[in-house]
Amino acid sequence: MLAPSVHPLHRTGGYLYGEVWLARHVRVLVTGGAGFIGANLLYHWAERHPEDELATLDALTYAGHLESIRPLLDSGRIRFVHGDIADPAVVREAVRGIDTIVHLAAESHVDRSIEAPAPFVRTNVVGTQVLLDAARASDVRRFHHVSTDEVFGSLPLEDRETRFTATTPYDPRSPYSATKAGADHLVRAYLHTYGLPVTISNCGNNYGPYQHPEKLVPKAITRLLNGQQVPLYGDGRNVRDWIFVGDHCRALDLIVQQGRTGSTYLIAGEGGHSNRELVGKILAVLGLGEERIEYVADRPGHDLRYALDASPSLLELGWRPQVGFEEGLTATIEWYRSRRDWWEPLAAPERAGR
Ligand SMILES: NC(=O)c1ccc[n+]([C@@H]2O[C@H](COP(=O)([O-])OP(=O)(O)OC[C@H]3O[C@@H](n4cnc5c(N)ncnc54)[C@H](O)[C@@H]3O)[C@@H](O)[C@H]2O)c1
Repeated sequence: MLAPSVHPLHRTGGYLYGEVWLARHVRVLVTGGAGFIGANLLYHWAERHPEDELATLDALTYAGHLESIRPLLDSGRIRFVHGDIADPAVVREAVRGIDTIVHLAAESHVDRSIEAPAPFVRTNVVGTQVLLDAARASDVRRFHHVSTDEVFGSLPLEDRETRFTATTPYDPRSPYSATKAGADHLVRAYLHTYGLPVTISNCGNNYGPYQHPEKLVPKAITRLLNGQQVPLYGDGRNVRDWIFVGDHCRALDLIVQQGRTGSTYLIAGEGGHSNRELVGKILAVLGLGEERIEYVADRPGHDLRYALDASPSLLELGWRPQVGFEEGLTATIEWYRSRRDWWEPLAAPERAGR
């Protein structure tokens, strides 16, 4: 078979389901499209696949904002369904006529999961099961589930070599990551039990436009722009794999189109950075000093280090992160500088970030 990038049908908007290229447009449902990654994915998809029909299902929790996708709504480019993915009637309706589901809707903030796990179980586990059932009952040809590297647990700080791979055993340690792990297991179970054509991806920490200011990168940027201190957990040495959201969206696009049913794809950024390094870079771009950091009591059970290798099967599809850390952070800072209208109405709670 020809490599995907030179496949003769690739340019016609064709899609690979199993081994079969379908040269036609698809009808895509993105769940959680009013959230951070969902909104970025909808813009990506609308631009790259003008022939495809797009819909999103979102409950518009505190984390969902229609303003994030306003141009797509106003132009009629996407169909918006307001509702809860744990509500079977709403989900059945949203899935009607859809052939591709990209599932992002979730409760996503670790600190909130520590304070109140119940909504995480309901949305991330029950909601995923309800969506899987609706996908089974309709003619869905691809169910892609977006998950996180946090399902694999925590690596020691001193060991900078070991990385998560698709075969690393699950070891979730926060209510958030436990519910995401539960969802991943359900998705795999629906392939093995019912033959639902699923794929899964696990990604590191995203940053970029439209991220709620409760998360570390936008929290640091918006607080600094407002002349405030940046709260940092513990000693700030915790390491995360950072990826620009646009790079994540390109990987999702490839996996949805060309991924193999039943496969898990790890989507890695360009490397790990400690929270302290991350905030240091933001301070440097803004021309500010480290005295603007305020160290606060650590998060309970704070995972030390996440690091993952991008799946060889994803690299074979031609994917590489394209946006370097400094470049991505600088672009993100510029975006928040110019979009006070977007983030100022969102109350930033006094937490230290993800
Ligand atoms: N942000 C990251 O760094 C990251 C990394 C890896 C994986 N992920 C995963 O990617 C997905 C999206 O993350 P995000 O950062 O964009 O999250 P987000 O919190 O910004 O957005 C979540 C969206 O889901 C919606 N939602 C929440 N509960 C819902 C429900 N019951 N029914 C319907 N919609 C509901 C919210 O309204 C919001 O629009 C999540 O599944 C998350 O676990 C995120």
